[in-house]
Amino acid sequence: MPSETTRVGTPRAAIILAAGQGTRMKSALPKVLHKVGGKPLIGWAIDLALACACAPAVVVVGAGMAGLRELVTARLGEGSVAVQETPRGTADAVSAARAALAGFEGDVVILYGDAPLVRAETVEAMFALRRERGGLVVLGFDAADPTGYGRLILDGEGAVARIVEERDATHEERRVAFCNSGVVVADAGQLFQLLSMVRNDNAKGEFYLTDVVGLARSAGFKTHAAHAEENEVLGVNSRVDLAEAEAAFQQRARRAALEGGVTMIAPETVYFSHDTCIGRDVTIEPNVYFAEGVTIGAGTVIHAHCHFERTHVSENCEIGPFARFRPNARLERKVKIGNFVEVKNSTLGEGAKANHLAYIGDADVGARSNLGAGAITCNYDGFDKHRTTIGEDVFVGTDTALVAPVTLGARAYTAAGSVITKDVAAGALALGRARQTEIEGWADRFRKAKSAEKAARKADKGKAE
Ligand code: UD1
Ligand code: MG
Repeated sequence: MPSETTRVGTPRAAIILAAGQGTRMKSALPKVLHKVGGKPLIGWAIDLALACACAPAVVVVGAGMAGLRELVTARLGEGSVAVQETPRGTADAVSAARAALAGFEGDVVILYGDAPLVRAETVEAMFALRRERGGLVVLGFDAADPTGYGRLILDGEGAVARIVEERDATHEERRVAFCNSGVVVADAGQLFQLLSMVRNDNAKGEFYLTDVVGLARSAGFKTHAAHAEENEVLGVNSRVDLAEAEAAFQQRARRAALEGGVTMIAPETVYFSHDTCIGRDVTIEPNVYFAEGVTIGAGTVIHAHCHFERTHVSENCEIGPFARFRPNARLERKVKIGNFVEVKNSTLGEGAKANHLAYIGDADVGARSNLGAGAITCNYDGFDKHRTTIGEDVFVGTDTALVAPVTLGARAYTAAGSVITKDVAAGALALGRARQTEIEGWADRFRKAKSAEKAARKADKGKAE
């Protein structure tokens, strides 16, 4: 049996439970593949395990769930997936990870794959508590509404005597608001020893992980409770919970952005992803959405109603209102993108501008070049995408269609309304539109004839009446 008190530098492992079907989600997708802040629930648990330096980390999945296995293996490597063929309870799920952890000695943390917002600091505090006091540490929280949660029953000294699941609780026990989050830190050897003693003689007929607490006490191990805020340990069981977890994440992300030096006049209307990176002194006006993979450089101003995805914006740019950035857009410093402009898979050099109504797709735009209103890259021929290359200091006239592949040399101009199908030399003006002709006096003659016709009709009508 390993020593009761853990040492500094004790190896750490994580077991992440994700075998439940998640029936209450009413989804074809396993529950833990649903996303919060653009990251699958399971990704949050994996990142937490890695942030706490847990190696190995094992994810317990159910039968099937090929997509989930693939994701886990990609993140944690071969051997990181354990299978629980039938969901027979959380204790049974942890036991399914035993073989994958064969030979491991040290501390283990059990995480639930459906609780995305647990912070690394909280789990670190649990490891620290175990290091100081030994035994088993469970993470509790005070629930505003404890319905559905397991209750932590404390003894006179504030240690956890046992955990009772709601269905098995007495009337008295149900009044306890201190609930079980599911996160447990224990010595691996002790944990598996206790798990082998768990029985399923309860209301659900399942093997409850929560029973290890009472068993630990009977075996003479200490059992401590750590504390977390409720919105940190929120478990996702339904779409309602998923929306609540998203709201809690957004609140956290907005606060972090504000604290990091970002100005938002209506932060509650700005949506972030788990990896959004915003520099100092960035101003974000209302109704802006950041999907995954977005970086915004310091000093940039984002006007209202913009959407970003996998995009890098450098310092001191000005964007929007109503601009859309699709994957692989890259803006160098001081770029200006105005209303109703879409940018995709393109780079814009320093100081380049597209101020109104343009589509820049698969293009490289040189520094200081200006795209007029209605300038469009025709990048797709129905089969393949083609690039447009625009040199520095180019002036693309209003309503120019750039039929890719095409290159405009530095300092070139295109005339308004042109359809540019051939490369344009540096410093040249390209006109690609019908030549204008003029018929002298035509409009005056036309107007005179038409007015006369109209007057004659009116006179006829008057006689008839
Ligand atoms: C569990 C706890 C409860 C706690 C609550 C916190 C037990 C018995 N109950 O209840 O005390 O208050 O979480 O949210 O542990 N899972 C498996 N295999 C199984 C069953 C579950 O892998 O056989 C996984 C699920 O995928 C999920 C996690 O374990 O990620 C928790 O299971 P869930 O059914 O959501 O437990 P709760 O009823 O919420
Ligand atoms: Mg749950």
